[in-house]
Amino acid sequence: MNSSEARTSIDDLISKIDHYNHAYYQLHKSEISDQEFDALLKSLEQLEEEWPDLKRADSPTSRVGGTITKDFASVTHKYPMLSLSNTYSEEELIEFDQRIKKTLEDETYEYVCELKYDGVALSITYENGIISQAATRGDGVRGDDITSNAKTIRTLPLKINTATLPNNIEVRGEVFFPLEQFNRVNNEREDIGEQPLANPRNAASGTLKMQNSSIVASRNLDCYIYFLLGENLPTKSHSESLEYLKKKGFNVPNHYRVCGDITSVISFINDWREKRHDLPLDTDGIVIKVNQFDQQQRLGNTAKSPRWAIAFKYASESAPTQLESIQYQVGRTGSITPVANLKPVQLAGTTVKRASLHNANEIARLGIHEGDTVFVEKGGEIIPKVTSVDISSRPKDALPIVYITNCPECSTELIRKEGEANHYCPNEISCPPQIKGRIEHFIQRKAMDIDGLGKETIEQLFEVRLINSIGDLFDLTYDQLINLDRFADKSVNRLLSGLQESVKNTPFHKVLFALGIRYVGATVAEKLAIHFLSIHKLMEASLEELINIPEIGERIAASVHEYFQHPENISLINKLEARGIQFSMDPPTVENNLLEGSSFVVSGVFQTFSRDEIKSIIKSNGGKLLSSVSGKLDFLVAGDKMGPSKLDKATQLGVKIISEDEFRKMIE
Ligand code: IVH
Repeated sequence: MNSSEARTSIDDLISKIDHYNHAYYQLHKSEISDQEFDALLKSLEQLEEEWPDLKRADSPTSRVGGTITKDFASVTHKYPMLSLSNTYSEEELIEFDQRIKKTLEDETYEYVCELKYDGVALSITYENGIISQAATRGDGVRGDDITSNAKTIRTLPLKINTATLPNNIEVRGEVFFPLEQFNRVNNEREDIGEQPLANPRNAASGTLKMQNSSIVASRNLDCYIYFLLGENLPTKSHSESLEYLKKKGFNVPNHYRVCGDITSVISFINDWREKRHDLPLDTDGIVIKVNQFDQQQRLGNTAKSPRWAIAFKYASESAPTQLESIQYQVGRTGSITPVANLKPVQLAGTTVKRASLHNANEIARLGIHEGDTVFVEKGGEIIPKVTSVDISSRPKDALPIVYITNCPECSTELIRKEGEANHYCPNEISCPPQIKGRIEHFIQRKAMDIDGLGKETIEQLFEVRLINSIGDLFDLTYDQLINLDRFADKSVNRLLSGLQESVKNTPFHKVLFALGIRYVGATVAEKLAIHFLSIHKLMEASLEELINIPEIGERIAASVHEYFQHPENISLINKLEARGIQFSMDPPTVENNLLEGSSFVVSGVFQTFSRDEIKSIIKSNGGKLLSSVSGKLDFLVAGDKMGPSKLDKATQLGVKIISEDEFRKMIE
């Protein structure tokens, strides 16, 4: 193939892929199977690899990442990225309105009110309709070119139709970590023994600066667009621009309002004060913008911010309280998390007694001293955080917090690996919380799912020295248990039969996950199980063989390989195998294709199935699982207690919402 033939093939493949993507995402029709679609994408990838110069800026392969950027180039913004002046008070808003009125000499004007999204500002340039650059705000004048990472954001068009638009435009928006995705990533991190990400905003910012765009793609960031810039724009006002951008395929949220006066601005602010917590992202206020562009121009800018806009910030749900002590928790993998014990304080309807301090760097950043008064705040994350210290009320002679050097549980000296924020206790074998953590991981629902056993019972059995490792669970006898506190005939039998049932019923991939090998989460365990079909084949695999498995990176491969080098792990596996635990599986076959071509999101709590069961039924019937509700979703399987925002979104997008019973009928 010569270069011009390659170009033709690339163009041809891109038009085909774009066509099927459009059919799938916009028209909700799947015209080809997933395999056929993947094959087209693969061919395109191969051609682009062979002919790197021919790779197009709007290539659909950029959605899945794959590029590595060592240093992000610094780029100058064509129009500086200003910030907004802030206010927390209605009075200042009224003053802002009076200034506008005065400058516009009593002419009529309108405001557009939007939510203030708590993410990271992004500027995206399109040249001749093709995305050409995406840059962070930086210092407002120069930012970082993060184009390859931004392209993985699925709602950001790679190309737009320029009819009626100038050839060169810039759009701006806010990149955010949807809360559902943030929680998913954190659950996955916990499964593999990694520290959770601290909060959605910082995590979005950190993700955009990652060198490997495949990881960025896997995080499913999103971007709301709120600004159109360029010369000779076809629009005359901000609200027209928003509608225009929406028509061009940009992700412009619907919750903005054109307000005729400041009173209706204030009522918009009050309407969203509580409602904003149902949105799929963190927001911290309302942005108020004068609508007409000619009026914006007359109002002008100060050096830092436009005079035609202001941000109203909701008083953050923050409260001062006293630091009583710091507790250092040791996780399953030995990682240390400092947690502040606080004098109980009311915050957004709940009593807060504890807040995460994340790591030694965070404690140093806060400059926290013993007995300090600290401010705690609640964000999208579940655990409240300490945001600042009130130095003025610091007790006299208070000493700064000195981070521990030894494990609070087993006194082993802590280590800190280069480039990592966390300290670790390296004493895997005999540090009590690490032992108990591994057993808790083993018995959890997603793993061995042992009925009759929970965190407290593990604590009790460990204290009385009946268990000191996973393997000991299966040596427990009726006579040992019946004499213990809180145990009676019924609970002993329940635990013993729970153990037996889990031996019989837990498939190999869940057993593999249960072992708690670092970086082996539920999905990776399933991939390894299907690839090797037995633990012995997996044990014999060389590092190279492991690295060559699709989607298994070097870090996972090294961790799996390392796990099997430890004699105590081999003897644990031998012991469990002797008890009848399943360490092999038959090659999987798709049971049938009842659900082929349909996509599902499963959410809430169900009566007869667990959520995981429903998911595996969908997979084994050829259906596809999606991670969030979007226009391309076919069915939302809705259980009890699911979030109202998901239901609203599904209703808005016309996604079919089905109950557990309706789902059962589909597969029967
Ligand atoms: S308009 C001239 N609209 O807030 C400023 N900004 O404090 C134009 N932000 O850097 C910004 N939501 O990252 C605008 N609906 C919204 C916004 C928004 C969040 C952020 C943006 C900006 C910062 C300014």
